Amino acid sequence: MAKTKSFYICSECGYKTIKWQGKCDSCGEWGTFEEEIEVPLLSTKINSNNLNSNSKSKVVSFSNIQIEKNFRYKTTISEFDRLLGGGLVKGEVVLLTGNPGIGKSTLLLQTAKEYSIYGEVLYVSGEESPAQIKSRGERLGITSDNIYLMSETDIQSIYEYVLTKKPKIVIVDSIQTLYNSAIDSIPGTPTQIRECTLKIVELAKKNEVSFFIVGHITKDGKVAGPKMLEHMVDAVFQFEGEEGLFYRILRSEKNRFGSTNELAVFSMEDNGIQEVKNSSEFFLSEREEKNIGSMVVPVLEGTKVFLLEIQTLLTDCVMGIPKRIVQGFDRNRIQILIAIAEKRMKLSLGMKDFFINIPGGLSIKDPAADLGALISLVSLYKNVAISQKIAAVGELGLRGEIRKVFFIEKRLRELEKLGFKGVYVPEANRKEIEKNSYKMKIIYLKNLEEFLERISKDE
Ligand code: TYD
Ligand code: MG
Repeated sequence: MAKTKSFYICSECGYKTIKWQGKCDSCGEWGTFEEEIEVPLLSTKINSNNLNSNSKSKVVSFSNIQIEKNFRYKTTISEFDRLLGGGLVKGEVVLLTGNPGIGKSTLLLQTAKEYSIYGEVLYVSGEESPAQIKSRGERLGITSDNIYLMSETDIQSIYEYVLTKKPKIVIVDSIQTLYNSAIDSIPGTPTQIRECTLKIVELAKKNEVSFFIVGHITKDGKVAGPKMLEHMVDAVFQFEGEEGLFYRILRSEKNRFGSTNELAVFSMEDNGIQEVKNSSEFFLSEREEKNIGSMVVPVLEGTKVFLLEIQTLLTDCVMGIPKRIVQGFDRNRIQILIAIAEKRMKLSLGMKDFFINIPGGLSIKDPAADLGALISLVSLYKNVAISQKIAAVGELGLRGEIRKVFFIEKRLRELEKLGFKGVYVPEANRKEIEKNSYKMKIIYLKNLEEFLERISKDE
């Protein structure tokens, strides 16, 4: 047996050191080093007299590679398929992460049923017994002779099973419970997670078996284990949701077979997870005929448009330093918008506490929401009510100019679908907008002065 050496590895970035240290030199994180045992490498000397002719077999001419064009495993959960980029690809490895209790196992068990029409689906659990999984399955109304349950944590046994039985899809719940007995460290350590994932990726690619891997996340929302885990897999999905709220958001953070930063909304019901098809309706609360301090914005998440409501509030500041309470919006962006409002619109906000909130728990990153946030603030400041059937889209520049936004047609179509009667848009988007016809009233704005002039006219 070769001698083993120990070293320390940063669970954030994978940086290795011989001695333990508090702060990582590479990524600057504190307290991330864990001891690992080095796996001895086989002798890697290459002897030209002893070349292995088998190595040729791994090289294939580009033109000889056969692929099943566009084949995707599909489910009846269309939002789930959309996030995958139109379905699951053969041999794809998807990592699903999220807080405990968020619904990862429930979602995957439901998809197991869906995928079982294509052949055997293997559900490997190191966390629950087959009886527990079966009773959950009964609650979800799952009956299929093609779903197999395996209570196992040894990667070797899983490897052998998959090689002999060749299931179409394997669900591993969770990667943190797996171990490789050839490695002298406990399950859940960076080395075990990395080695087991490597084995899974190898299995998936060589045998065209698709895998879903559940990955737990740490307190600050990162995948527990080395960052490299995310690089090894084809797609990373994050399942999110506020405690106490019944809806869940599934986000694609990485996808080799589709676009990233896509988002889908699901709800947690008594009979499992259901997709929310009309998510815009879902995020818009019951609104009054006319609103002060609220505006709807069509924001882009990945390639899909979501209509979100921005709510603002101003109160007199009593403590001397004005408060800026921001929920669901970028803090720096708000500081910039407040500066623009003060300088370009002559609003005096220095003695006001300012609050901004996006109901529903989503966070806005799209700068096209700038104009809506500012209009909401101005309507509040001037105490002018704006019709709830009017929305706004536009990015703001420091000069107070309203800048062009991308995908304007998609955004306007979503607004029309939800019955909006008018929308403020950047003048810079005029050409593109005039290529199509809309039933909505389109109100073009060059800058904020223009908006101030007409604020009372558009009520
Ligand atoms: P689970 O899938 O076990 O979460 P994870 O695998 O991410 O840890 O989900 C557990 C929660 O979901 C639990 O609080 C009960 C709830 N739940 C429902 O609300 N409806 C259902 O049909 C099921 C099966 C679970
Ligand atoms: Mg679970």
